[in-house]
Amino acid sequence: MLTKNQTQQIVAVAAPAKINLCFDIVARREDGYHEINTLFQAIELHDLIRFKFSPRQSNLEITPTAENSPITLNKSDSCIEPAHFPIDENNSISQTIKLFLAQLPNRPAVSIQVQIEKNIPIGAGLAGGSSDAAATLIALNHYFDSPLSESKLIQLAAQIGSDVAFCLSGGLAVGRGRGEQLEKVDLNLDYHLILVKPRSIHISTPWAYNMYDQFIESGSSANTLPSHSVSDALLALKFQPQLDKQTHVFANAFEPIIFKEYPLLAEIKNNLLNLGCLAAHLTGSGPTIYGLVRSEQDGQRILKSIHGISIEDSSDIAETKEDKALILDAWLTKCIGHGARILASKVA
Ligand code: C5P
Repeated sequence: MLTKNQTQQIVAVAAPAKINLCFDIVARREDGYHEINTLFQAIELHDLIRFKFSPRQSNLEITPTAENSPITLNKSDSCIEPAHFPIDENNSISQTIKLFLAQLPNRPAVSIQVQIEKNIPIGAGLAGGSSDAAATLIALNHYFDSPLSESKLIQLAAQIGSDVAFCLSGGLAVGRGRGEQLEKVDLNLDYHLILVKPRSIHISTPWAYNMYDQFIESGSSANTLPSHSVSDALLALKFQPQLDKQTHVFANAFEPIIFKEYPLLAEIKNNLLNLGCLAAHLTGSGPTIYGLVRSEQDGQRILKSIHGISIEDSSDIAETKEDKALILDAWLTKCIGHGARILASKVA
């Protein structure tokens, strides 16, 4: 019989995106990060990652280059932005593999090939890179027969990025600290939602926080920023049976800042509300806007209307002709009660 050391193994994992139903910035910290209060929700939109583990004679080398990368991008029809997806060592999957293997006492002689079907848009506020990292931790821990405890995985996740710990467990959770301190909420929200993202807009999280700091430092505007209570949102979710009474408490503290830079996003939000969404907000630092809908049918109707909308970006940021002729990507998805997880594990 062949042992694990002699056979190739394939582990397929799903990496779901997240939205922030509620997002508040509490304070800037000494370490440059910001203290936040957020209500994370995992959603059905996900990347699919397939790891192929092959035993090797010599020790593993993960030094991906553009030409010779262990990561090969599967450009599926649904992969809308392959050009923005880094296949070098900046990729969150490569970084996570290196970090994980460094935890093992004996460096295993194995090579790892990764294929990804990238469905979550990049730089979108949907934690695509973070979820890929979480799925990688789960796949590697599975392949190596769980050498790392759950708490060690959570610790590594927090080291990789602020949203990665949430992406491990998913569902609905309150996030505090940088977002890595989690309190799971035992509620399965039965919401369908629409996501809308202008294809040409990608927002870097550090840039967004920097804009927020400048906004606060500019003085007079500081008091005009509303404070959004995650506990109010939780109370509404737990004790309000009516959907529209639950959803009006959601909010995002980045909106005044990001909407000022990208007025188009405010327009998308208003369109979603006019089309009948119960609530519509930026997720994370954007640019994706989520809109909560009453039912899947309602979602289908709104999705059709979104695809028919053509919005011209009149802001100064849209410099090129291509930027101005906007393509809106839109998805109908729903809340899910889990995070990254294994779909299949088999000998190749
Ligand atoms: O942790 P993550 O890699 O996602 O963070 C990216 C950047 O976003 C950080 O370097 C920091 O500039 C900013 N950030 C922040 N406060 C947070 C999360 C992220 O300032 N709570």
